[in-house]
Amino acid sequence: METLQEKEDKVSIPRIGDMAPEFEAVTTQGNITFPNDYVGEWVILFSHPADFTPVCTSEFITFAHLEDKFAKANCKLVGLSIDGLYSHIAWLRTIKEKIEFNGMKNVEVKFPLIEDITMEIAKKYGMIQPGESKTQAVRAVFFIDPKGIIRALIYYPLSLGRNFDEIYRALIAMQTSDKFAVATPADWTPGDDVIVSPAGSCDQAQERMINTDELECEDWFFCTKKLDRDTILSDILKN
Ligand code: BEZ
Repeated sequence: METLQEKEDKVSIPRIGDMAPEFEAVTTQGNITFPNDYVGEWVILFSHPADFTPVCTSEFITFAHLEDKFAKANCKLVGLSIDGLYSHIAWLRTIKEKIEFNGMKNVEVKFPLIEDITMEIAKKYGMIQPGESKTQAVRAVFFIDPKGIIRALIYYPLSLGRNFDEIYRALIAMQTSDKFAVATPADWTPGDDVIVSPAGSCDQAQERMINTDELECEDWFFCTKKLDRDTILSDILKN
């Protein structure tokens, strides 16, 4: 029989394709109702273990530095940790006033940082993973689309700072898939060839091996086509 502790330690993680779990929260930018406040926009909802810690500080400086770049891709940032509002405010002030990282300094974090002392929100998103920490959130990244659907998630342990190029790349790749009905191969970045959906019939498979005008096929099931970087970026990015 499952003990109470075992029950409490069970982590439930929302899945790709699920609606983002709803919540109301107090943040450094006022109260938010999630995901309703963000309908029509992409959101990256991410957690960090604690305020006033070095890896988190390096991540916040980096995210804040990239905020405009994400905004151009119609994507808002929302952070969360198991700390209170006043700790968040004090930490963000310290970051702006005192901390330099990778040449970035005087960085103002303008996106909302959620207080989640009760861990209610962190638990909804599987951000508390007891094998790693029972009191601090792991480094979770949820990509939520304009309809409020979870499209991708990445989890990192406490000791590992995230790769922001990858987070941005994943966002643009998903937007490209939505817009142009294609998939993106390993290590894809805008300008690389994209993958077209697999042949759906024997005739189409045969056709793909003969007609090589638009597609380049390694075999009937593995066909790519060109998709110009400027076409993608002019379609996806706001000026
Ligand atoms: C950090 O952000 O530096 C950190 C936080 C929790 C555990 C380990 C590192």
